[in-house]
Amino acid sequence: MSNVLAAPGQPPVLHLSEVTKTYPTRPPVTALTGVDLTVHAGERLAIVGRSGSGKSTLLNIVGLLDECTSGRYELAGQDTSTMSATARTHLRAQRLGFVFQDSHVLGHRTVAENIGLKLAITRTPRRARAGQIAEVLARVGLSHRRDALGRLLSGGERQRVAIARAIVSDPDILLADEPTGNLDADNSAAVLEIFDALARGGTTIVVITHDLRIAQWADRALTLDGGRLVEGRPS
Ligand SMILES: Nc1ncnc2c1ncn2[C@@H]1O[C@H](COP(=O)(O)OP(=O)(O)OP(=O)(O)O)[C@@H](O)[C@H]1O
Ligand SMILES: [Mg+2]
Repeated sequence: MSNVLAAPGQPPVLHLSEVTKTYPTRPPVTALTGVDLTVHAGERLAIVGRSGSGKSTLLNIVGLLDECTSGRYELAGQDTSTMSATARTHLRAQRLGFVFQDSHVLGHRTVAENIGLKLAITRTPRRARAGQIAEVLARVGLSHRRDALGRLLSGGERQRVAIARAIVSDPDILLADEPTGNLDADNSAAVLEIFDALARGGTTIVVITHDLRIAQWADRALTLDGGRLVEGRPS
């Protein structure tokens, strides 16, 4: 497992200070206000909060899919606001794995092709791809579904493909937005097991969840309330 961010003396993997996000809609919507957050290498952080509290907005900023309106976001000690678009894209592909709120698995592509797309983005040599896809499918228990089309998968299988795609590039940080939101208890348990294996291997995990089991599994849980981050698990 590449875990370059966990080397001793390294800065926190993620550091946000006074981060604010206002969507330029009419009227403007301020989704995050003065968010301070520090996450260390190998930490398992859960973020909880009611619908509309800014969870996805925060994860999208952390995942370099969106930018904050004001404040500062450092990823592995680097100020992300001064990076070129190319550098951001490179950092996102190399270091971050993102599991979306809806799985974003392409229905007309096979499981292997869905995962292979990520390897194309990270410029993994073609000859290495099949082996990496086989390895990651074994990790999520889907080796037998390698050639199935995305649209024919069950919800639980689709979510595991989404996780496989996020982790195939061996990211230092896995960001997951409600990964068990649409899953039954068995599939949720399977996802938690995958996350646990990753955490034991040193991957930093930030997960948005309504799932109490995931919130309790995390080292730390933070609540977003109206765009502000507050300490503690929900009561
Ligand atoms: N692209 C956008 N443009 C304008 N407003 C947005 C946009 N995305 C989110 N919002 C608004 O920002 C606020 C926070 O939204 P966000 O999606 O971050 O909430 P959330 O906590 O993830 O909610 P949920 O639990 O329902 O997924 C909401 O008021 C939402 O309507
Ligand atoms: Mg959301």
